[in-house]
Amino acid sequence: MPAKVVVGTQWGDEGKGKFTDLLAIDATHVVRYQGGHNAGHTLVVDGVTFKLQLVPSGILYPQVVPVIANGVVVDPWVLLSELAMLESKGIDVSKLVVSGNAHVILPYHQEIDALNEAALGDSKIGTTLRGIGPAYADKADRVGIRLQDLVRPAYLKERISSVARGLAGRVDVDVDALVDRLLTEIAPFVTPRLTDTVALLHDALENGARILLEGAQATFLDIDHGTYPFVTSSNPTAGFASVGSGLGPRDITEVIGVAKAYSTRVGSGPYPTELFDEVGNLLVERGHEFGTNTGRRRRTGWFDAVMVRQAARLNSLSELAITKLDILDTLETVKICVAYELDGQRIRHLPGDSDDFARATPVYVEMPGWQCDISSARTPEELPAAARDYLACIERETGVPINLVGTGPGRDQILYWTTPA
Ligand code: GDP
Ligand code: IMO
Ligand code: MG
Repeated sequence: MPAKVVVGTQWGDEGKGKFTDLLAIDATHVVRYQGGHNAGHTLVVDGVTFKLQLVPSGILYPQVVPVIANGVVVDPWVLLSELAMLESKGIDVSKLVVSGNAHVILPYHQEIDALNEAALGDSKIGTTLRGIGPAYADKADRVGIRLQDLVRPAYLKERISSVARGLAGRVDVDVDALVDRLLTEIAPFVTPRLTDTVALLHDALENGARILLEGAQATFLDIDHGTYPFVTSSNPTAGFASVGSGLGPRDITEVIGVAKAYSTRVGSGPYPTELFDEVGNLLVERGHEFGTNTGRRRRTGWFDAVMVRQAARLNSLSELAITKLDILDTLETVKICVAYELDGQRIRHLPGDSDDFARATPVYVEMPGWQCDISSARTPEELPAAARDYLACIERETGVPINLVGTGPGRDQILYWTTPA
């Protein structure tokens, strides 16, 4: 390593959890650097499924120190229930540490999230209603509560009181009750885990650590580079892995982009390759495309190489991990979007203007499907030629070498890809 980032290259749910878990086998630390429990990362190990929202996906390995770093927004009740869930499955959670600088999602953030969405009406973003946006808004507004505030009760009360005054007339906050809940239900369990995670990670690096930074959400949900306003309120792109963890940019030596072999999106926003036909339904059904977190049906579409090419630029991708290739097994033909048509012009880049992006129509290459079960393939040679051609086309069109390919949800359902000569 020393530090690698795993980042989503589409609109989330690419399988970042599975690949983080897989790559964590030789990591010393696995770090969440942004987002919160809007994430839903699924690991399937020896037939047991783990759905993680806040806890880093490396938690299953005894040697890994799981780190929730400064860039994350933490709903502490969710954190505690997730730790309890893991313990009930026999996982040792004692090593998990949390940055005191991480901001706290409080119940009023969730109320504001719902009010904001209701006010948008038909133009709503389709957020997860987890309070993510309002918590990051408070952080930017410098009225956020940080986990370290839990150890200073008087200060905590003063901060929450001033937020409550600012919210008067919109959201009622019972300051005493909230402070009491934080001090009794949260502080005793969370404060022992509070750590200067910046010092921890840098000291570890000096001692040869191998750090994996686990992105949540994805490139096109990035508040700067995504399809604004239909985005999340943080920066999932790899550059933020440095800000959100305190590692320096030059500590990061590798960026692994995770891409589904097709595409999905939850919530509103433009989606040029979206399918509204039987193939779209088939992808939902075969791919179990319902939110890990909210249960919402995901929108589905063909693989968009223009977007992943843009993701390669934005994240300095060193390699791609392609997931869910097996979901395409039954299709007669498969398509990859390699360009867009916009105002009669063919373009191979993502339009900078969001209205142009919403109007862009996809230009596809169509290839024969493989129409056989690939779920037990463990080497490129075990894949049918049509599946190899499909992967080679993704590589060619995105300009990024593929390293790993997922052929099923299980940890062992992968193959290491070598580009055909
Ligand atoms: P994340 O948010 O990026 O971690 O992805 P999610 O966990 O939300 O969604 C990915 C889903 O696909 C999960 O249910 C995974 O178990 C599953 N998955 C991951 N890789 C593969 C794969 O290669 N094939 C199949 N069939 N399922 C996969
Ligand atoms: P993982 O890490 C897919 C989407 C929401 C909504 C938008 C804003 O599992 O890939 P938010 O609650 O963040 O303010 O919602 O972002 N969204 C995700 N979509 N996967 C996720 O996480 C997501 N996290 C947020 O559906 O469109
Ligand atoms: Mg997910």
